[in-house]
Amino acid sequence: MRPLRPSYFVSRTRGALRACGRAWRAGGAAGLGQAVVEAAYWRFHPRVRRWAAEMPRQRELDEAFDREFGVDTAGEVPLSDIGLPAGEVRRGHGLYRPVWAPLLREALDRLPIDFARFTFVDYGSGKGKALLLASDYPFAEIVGVEFARPLHEAAVRNVERYSSPRQKCRAIRSVCMDARAFDPPEGPLVCFFFNPFDEATLAATLERVRGSVRRRPRDAFIVYVNARSVAEQGRVFRRPYLRRVAAEPLYLVCGVAG
Ligand SMILES: C[S@@+](CC[C@H](N)C(=O)[O-])C[C@H]1O[C@@H](n2cnc3c(N)ncnc32)[C@H](O)[C@@H]1O
Repeated sequence: MRPLRPSYFVSRTRGALRACGRAWRAGGAAGLGQAVVEAAYWRFHPRVRRWAAEMPRQRELDEAFDREFGVDTAGEVPLSDIGLPAGEVRRGHGLYRPVWAPLLREALDRLPIDFARFTFVDYGSGKGKALLLASDYPFAEIVGVEFARPLHEAAVRNVERYSSPRQKCRAIRSVCMDARAFDPPEGPLVCFFFNPFDEATLAATLERVRGSVRRRPRDAFIVYVNARSVAEQGRVFRRPYLRRVAAEPLYLVCGVAG
């Protein structure tokens, strides 16, 4: 490995100082403090380091999946590169990246349900990786909700191309809209979230699911996956109408009471 040049450290230090200046101007001392805490989390926290170390292996699995099934789901797409306004980029955590298959399967296996009665909804479905993986389970229907049109269109193509001997559900569709405005289908629900939004958007979406279950009582579950730690947004799930079914470091499964 080549040694880093002094100019590298100068430019990193300049970048950090500029970020501190922006945080100070936007939020004063509190804003600066928060920016420092966040920067330290992303740089030093063991859970972030574990996640970063695991990324290359998962990326290889994603690419192998794409080659095997002739689809295009692997890799990351910055939302700012596909024409989304800055506010939506921020609300949407800035990036498309596919769910890690073993994590999704592990979480779905914790659902105490007869899959054939349930519709799987992926909130923030991107290029549709979770839709394809979920179709190995005998869900009645699978729906993806994605607000970025280029990603939604990629999901439609992927769903058309995907065919696996393990596949048990072929009723799969992607809708292009903001998850906050999506009214879930009327039957029993599995609502899946692969860390797609900021807390406010997540809370608004959970409230919408709850409202739907209240109006039309039925079985409904939330599955939340976060490949670093569910603790990042854990407080959003502390709601009186959510009952824990499984709580693991990287996923949560909750039942929704109407
Ligand atoms: C981390 S990716 C997850 C992709 C997919 N769920 C999977 O597991 O493979 C999150 C996706 O959520 C989408 N997203 C973010 N905010 C959204 C919103 N308010 N409504 C719909 N989609 C949104 C992003 O465009 C991105 O594609």
